[in-house]
Amino acid sequence: MKCLLIGSGGREHALAWSIAGSALTDELIIAPGSAAMASLGTCVDVAADDLDGLLALADRIQPDLVVVGPEAPLVAGLVDRLEAAGHAAFGPSMTAAQLEGSKAFARLACDRHGIPQPGFTVCDSLETATVAIAALGGACVIKADGLAAGKGVVVADSEDEAVQAAGEMLDGRFGDAGRTLLVEERINGPEASLFALVDGEHALFMGSAQDHKRAYDGDEGPNTGGMGAISPAPRLTAELQQQVMDEIVLPLAKGMADEGTPYRGILYVGLMLTETGPQVIEFNCRLGDPEAQVILPRLRSDLVAAMQATLDGTLGHLSLRWDDATAVTVVMAAKGYPGAYEKGSVIDGTHNLDGRDDVILFHAGTSVDPDGTLRATGGRVLAVTGIGADRELARSAAYDAISTIDWPEGFCRSDIAAR
Ligand code: AMP
Ligand code: GLY
Repeated sequence: MKCLLIGSGGREHALAWSIAGSALTDELIIAPGSAAMASLGTCVDVAADDLDGLLALADRIQPDLVVVGPEAPLVAGLVDRLEAAGHAAFGPSMTAAQLEGSKAFARLACDRHGIPQPGFTVCDSLETATVAIAALGGACVIKADGLAAGKGVVVADSEDEAVQAAGEMLDGRFGDAGRTLLVEERINGPEASLFALVDGEHALFMGSAQDHKRAYDGDEGPNTGGMGAISPAPRLTAELQQQVMDEIVLPLAKGMADEGTPYRGILYVGLMLTETGPQVIEFNCRLGDPEAQVILPRLRSDLVAAMQATLDGTLGHLSLRWDDATAVTVVMAAKGYPGAYEKGSVIDGTHNLDGRDDVILFHAGTSVDPDGTLRATGGRVLAVTGIGADRELARSAAYDAISTIDWPEGFCRSDIAAR
């Protein structure tokens, strides 16, 4: 098969690694990809948000399968446009991607289909938000409805804090993303993420992970895209996993199919494991970053075959095999991230990892000079995945690898997957 992969980050490097390793793949083209991905496929300089450019590229190269990595083009309707032009594209339609693109859409869908979640009120004025906040006594969560790069959520401790956050969002702090907001009941418990392939009707467990969203050790500092992850998610037991599939993923898939907006692709379910059972915190319409960097290395089955079965509607006949090992990925970010940071600093020593079978290095934001010098070009720059028989071994493989990388302008958390 000729596969076209859209995206350029660490998640897409992991996807490229899996797709290139598939027995079904003859050729991999990546738009735009990165220097690090050039050893896995041919990179073509079309940006992931250039929908017209991507469509023209697909028309020109006629891929057998298009895989969309990031959420923005999915929410903007790339899959609908590719399908209308006759291309097979893996990922949800624009309407189904609203599960991530609009938190109100997701909450209302869960409500209609009886899926466990915190209480919520959709608000588009400060008056309705203030009433909803007062009804919860101030312990609530304020969320911008639209995509806000992970920054549109405020977990409030008091009514004043909640009302102020709501006011700022409605005043346009996140642009149009916050013109509608949600006031949610604040629930408690450990968090975990479950991934599922959904073909409209059937759903198949596609791994679990636990993310580390805060920038610094001890879960301190600002929220980020993710500073590290472990798979499987330590607290998501086999029973809980089955419960999430039965009570959340399957009813949602069936409900969306019945309403004429079937979900096709990978569904990312962000969960809180409360005393009364798992509840939905959020959905994403794609693999996570850096969750892909721990899930895909554990997948023993062929990813391209699984994606093909998702498009064919034959997931009901498929089962996936997983490695028993644990994977831990630690993100190396530029100092300053998620705020302002310098670009262009030199990273040395990554060749020390060549040939190691307990470590995979995924690049999230690097470039390579003509003389081979590796440079940082993004906020999150490297994701170093360690693989081991248990959490401790996987963790030490990742941190041991990081100790051999020389990058004074970078930092990482030292407590990813620590107890
Ligand atoms: P989200 O972007 O919706 O995943 O929210 C970001 C973070 O806010 C989550 O990872 C949770 O830690 C927290 N959060 C979101 N919704 C709630 C809620 N209803 N109750 C408690 N914490 C929440
Ligand atoms: N790591 C969180 C996300 O991909 O949304």
